[in-house]
Amino acid sequence: MSDSVPVLTIDGPGGAGKGTISRLVAARLGWHLLDSGALYRLTALAAVKHEVPLDDEPALAGIAASLDVVFLAENDATTVLLEGEDATTAIRTEQVGDAASRVAALPAVRQALLQRQRNFRKAPGLVADGRDMGTVVFTDAPLKIFLTASASERARRRHLQLREAGVDASLSSLLKEIQARDARDMQRSVAPLKPAIDAITLDTTRLTIPEVVDRLTELLTERGLASAT
Ligand code: C5P
Repeated sequence: MSDSVPVLTIDGPGGAGKGTISRLVAARLGWHLLDSGALYRLTALAAVKHEVPLDDEPALAGIAASLDVVFLAENDATTVLLEGEDATTAIRTEQVGDAASRVAALPAVRQALLQRQRNFRKAPGLVADGRDMGTVVFTDAPLKIFLTASASERARRRHLQLREAGVDASLSSLLKEIQARDARDMQRSVAPLKPAIDAITLDTTRLTIPEVVDRLTELLTERGLASAT
């Protein structure tokens, strides 16, 4: 039964470090990884590709339900194929992120992606990264984390990441985008971004990545979900 398979849910706003932390924790445990944001980003990208307006809810739900996507995990990187084409970099742009947060506000799109997300729950375990992993998708997860950081710290990290990728962006416009995305994710009526009542909130503003990974490993060990090494 999939329900006996443990899930660690990691929810929180964009830029809190969920992606990196989830990947590292999954690798340390040898567990599967669900990047649910990628599914919303892929839905948005497929919509743009097929010229479907971002407010046409039934058509977008159809796209989400029939998404032809393959995740190829190799070493510590994952290649994403959309309709057989490499979409790994294309889904990471700010424009696609923005479009993703618009389509993610539509209930029919969320419903269409629900079972696809639950199918990632396979032995020996799953690390699920998103906004509603603990509140909607895996409500029975034995450990739920709400990972957050101040908006200015998240903008600073994004700025650094973009600079390293050779992309020039202003810190103040990144901060505005982050605040607009947070507001949209928190204020939507369906599956708004908020900690599950049984989630542990971890503020990473002043923590390094290894410190966060160690803290999560400790929590997993305390709950008997991972063995101390
Ligand atoms: O996490 P990421 O930035 O890739 O997610 C892109 C967008 O997808 C988010 O801004 C959010 O609106 C949406 N999303 C969501 N529910 C999830 C994951 C992502 O609504 N579980």
